[in-house]
Amino acid sequence: MAGGRPLVALLDGRDCSVEMPILKDIATVAFCDAQSTQEIHEKVLNEAVGALLYHSITLTREDLEKFKALKIVVRIGAGFDNVDIKAAGDMGVAVCNVPSASVEEVADSTLCHILNLYRRTLWLHAAVKDGTRPQSAENIRELAAGATRIRGDTLGIIGLGRIGTAVAQRAKAFGFNILFYDPYLSDGIGKALGFSRVGTLQDLLYQSDCVTLHCNLNEHNHHLINDFTIKQMRQGAFLINTARGALVDEQALANALKDGRLRGAALDVQANEPFSYASSPLRDAPNLIITPHSSWYSDQSCTELREAAAAEIRRAITGRLPDTLRNCVNKEYFQQSAASSGLSHPGQSWGIESHPPPAIPPQPAISSHLETNGGPVNRYPGIPSVAIASGIPPPVSAEITPESMHVMRNPAMMLANNALSGRAQSTSPVVNRQSPAPGLLGKPDGDMTHKD
Ligand SMILES: NC(=O)c1ccc[n+]([C@@H]2O[C@H](COP(=O)([O-])OP(=O)(O)OC[C@H]3O[C@@H](n4cnc5c(N)ncnc54)[C@H](O)[C@@H]3O)[C@@H](O)[C@H]2O)c1
Repeated sequence: MAGGRPLVALLDGRDCSVEMPILKDIATVAFCDAQSTQEIHEKVLNEAVGALLYHSITLTREDLEKFKALKIVVRIGAGFDNVDIKAAGDMGVAVCNVPSASVEEVADSTLCHILNLYRRTLWLHAAVKDGTRPQSAENIRELAAGATRIRGDTLGIIGLGRIGTAVAQRAKAFGFNILFYDPYLSDGIGKALGFSRVGTLQDLLYQSDCVTLHCNLNEHNHHLINDFTIKQMRQGAFLINTARGALVDEQALANALKDGRLRGAALDVQANEPFSYASSPLRDAPNLIITPHSSWYSDQSCTELREAAAAEIRRAITGRLPDTLRNCVNKEYFQQSAASSGLSHPGQSWGIESHPPPAIPPQPAISSHLETNGGPVNRYPGIPSVAIASGIPPPVSAEITPESMHVMRNPAMMLANNALSGRAQSTSPVVNRQSPAPGLLGKPDGDMTHKD
């Protein structure tokens, strides 16, 4: 508790201007701008009951143990692989995500990557920028070599959750045949949506001209795309990953792009973020598009994500847990821990606030906020808050100051060096999209293939 009010901390950011109006009447809000728990101030570790975080900090069991009063962690985003949700549950800490706000943005970004790979737009743009002035149809043919018609190609979707489904629906309009692999979905989903289902990853890779990853990262799918599974893909296929970097073995991908086995790849997420070409095995790989984990971002989705995350914290402070939470992803672990530690009702109040919950007050219209349109930085003067910049405890009455605000940079589109040059056409691997020879395929795990 800070000054008698529960303390809520934004762990890996500075700008609390969206969260503040939603929480200011019931909590003290601090920011840490930390990349690891070692950078988090002791006051936050000792007193924070709620933590908000993006994807740039990790909370392992060891990290979570450092927090002495924590009751709820909210990921400002859909993926929660950077939080050990089981450990949190064991400690009686609820973990929530915001699954809805970026679905359209990630799906649109995925299609943007697919279209760039098929239509070679980025490379054509780069060639013109480099001074290439194609005049004849022959010139265009040379420059745009490798550009391919979409209609009739098969898009293989790994993970048909919210984003995978949104991608499938968009891709259908472009003429793709849609195939998906998702072993965790019940039978009938494919039929309900009108998409063909395969029962093994191998079948999906074998039948797809373009493979796109939309599964959550979990303990079973690290390096799902590796040397072995790339060999199961069609010669000259494309690979897109907007899910999580650890799903792809980047060395294997680099090898496949260099030897032309894969015709192109687009990665919004990488094994090590922020991505650095210099230290990546992908540094010399041709026909590669890299974006900086920015698929989730639009001015609108960013605001919605933050509002939804703050509202979840508010529900935690004012309600009974975990029942009142909207998107608790570790309920089962929490309830187990509550049962084994003798709490009679998992749904009881966690005691963040003991008095009856105040209703959510009318929220001010957030029409102008910092990250979107350069609105006033000190938008909420007089709001009591604790602004704790990595390690320096300011007075409890400190306010969010202009200096504490973080202006998000425009995500820069990055291209592989050699793909930027006018040599784009010469680096296009030969297109020969044949399925791999049977000898390259792994042994199928039984006849799991079924159309659904
Ligand atoms: N790049 C970005 O900015 C960004 C933004 C949001 C989400 N994401 C990523 O996208 C992922 C998917 O988001 P979502 O909202 O669609 O999640 P979701 O939970 O709705 O869907 C994930 C699907 O993947 C399936 N799955 C899990 N493991 C699988 C495997 N080994 N093979 C095939 N399918 C598997 C699950 O059954 C589920 O249906 C998130 O977990 C996150 O990692 C990235």
